[in-house]
Amino acid sequence: MRYFIGNWKMFGVPKSISILNKINSYYSKDKNRNKYRVIMTPPYTLIESYSKYFKNKKISIGAQNCYQKEQFSSNTAAVSPYMLKSVGAKYTLVGHSDNRGEGDTDTMLKDKVRYALKNNLKVVFCIGENKTEKKNKKTLSVLKRQLTKVLEKKFNKNNLIVAYEPIWSIGTGKIPTTDELKKTTIHIKKVLKGIFKKNSPAVLYGGSVDGSNVEMFKEIKEIDGFLVGGASKTSKKFIDIIKNYYR
Ligand code: PGA
Repeated sequence: MRYFIGNWKMFGVPKSISILNKINSYYSKDKNRNKYRVIMTPPYTLIESYSKYFKNKKISIGAQNCYQKEQFSSNTAAVSPYMLKSVGAKYTLVGHSDNRGEGDTDTMLKDKVRYALKNNLKVVFCIGENKTEKKNKKTLSVLKRQLTKVLEKKFNKNNLIVAYEPIWSIGTGKIPTTDELKKTTIHIKKVLKGIFKKNSPAVLYGGSVDGSNVEMFKEIKEIDGFLVGGASKTSKKFIDIIKNYYR
């Protein structure tokens, strides 16, 4: 199974649902539709209405983050996994570099993953090295640390997806070479196998993915799909990624 996940970040109002409607029409009719899943993560404000609208349709709706407590608490502006589930979210991202940059620690991320899984959300756990770490050839050790500090054998790996997003690639148009990415993805799967002792969860790539470079990624069979930021905000760009991947 392949995954095409869109991360809208701080984008979208109720009428932006037309973008998802177009993507959903393409997805519902695509002859390859059984080979992949499409998941979109709009901001919190749209999760309930979009989830209701797409309830019996192909696209699934998820959140971009969740708070590290399970249900209710006195943390201003926080949204828990239980609350997300109650309005129809099926997935949540955890550990996006934007949120790590704003203070998410490994301890917080572990609680986010744990409580999200406990509330039957599928978790897309994001990891990735920054520019300096890459320059100092620390990529593989950084990724290993990010995975082993947070993920535990007892977590349900069937509800877990890992997204490798090098920070230097997000929103910059810069992407790793095929060789680098293949090596990194194999390393991530090896670390995951070490944690879970069985097959590894799916591993996605994210960072400047668009319709023009996705064909390069399809050579790397170890990559199970994509987490897409910028190109998920227009239906044409997002559909082009799927189209060109299966061309
Ligand atoms: P990008 O963002 O596709 O715009 O590089 C990816 C992400 O941040 O998830």
